[in-house]
Amino acid sequence: MVLGSGAAVGQLAARLVVARLAGNPRMAIALPTGKTPLPMYRALVDFCRKGSVDFSQAHFFNLDELLGLPRTHPASYAAYLRREFFSKVNASPSHTHLLNGSTQHPLLECIRHERTIIRVGGLGLAVLGIGRNGHIAFNEPGSPIYSRTRVVRLAPETIEDNHFAPNTYALTMGIGTILQAREIILLASGPRKAQIVARALREAPTFAVPASALQLHPNVTVILDREAARELVITKGVV
Ligand code: PGA
Repeated sequence: MVLGSGAAVGQLAARLVVARLAGNPRMAIALPTGKTPLPMYRALVDFCRKGSVDFSQAHFFNLDELLGLPRTHPASYAAYLRREFFSKVNASPSHTHLLNGSTQHPLLECIRHERTIIRVGGLGLAVLGIGRNGHIAFNEPGSPIYSRTRVVRLAPETIEDNHFAPNTYALTMGIGTILQAREIILLASGPRKAQIVARALREAPTFAVPASALQLHPNVTVILDREAARELVITKGVV
């Protein structure tokens, strides 16, 4: 789907989340951070204030977290999700399952995340952004397609794009974890994403572009603004 602006991308993503939750209020959803999804969170908060959606039974997971940052640190992704979303809607604190970046036991933290996903019945939906280098969550180029939640080393361009990366490591759901979601929504906006979006959608799946693995999933919706879509050949508005 190609829309006029990043705000429209967020609106549509929010409408899809609301629709899916109407069908299954207990759904487990993996949530992205970064600039791209901000309009989606604003729209979800609006829908919640109007009473058009109920988040109280849903389960939420973060896709990734910077290693070394406590949840209370404003640059942590846990803090982002709390600030932009959880604190403004009726999500249940016991249903927000966030990777702890300040854990002393990163491996156990990754296993805990995977086990919690299984315990709540698997991810019904994963909403993703895409990095300039094609990463999804923090699965950088070279990430195995079957990877699970794990500790990763961030690529230099990712550190550059992240205003606050305390060190070069992060926790991330794996590509395999993400591909097991029953549905995936990929969001991209702005000209900086145009080239990598075209590679991810048009080239054969390759380790060099982690987002290209999404081609292997049967239920993916890609929502782009015009700038992010400009390297794609588009027929009738549908990529
Ligand atoms: P961005 O990040 O939305 O801030 O561009 C996307 C990502 O790195 O996944």
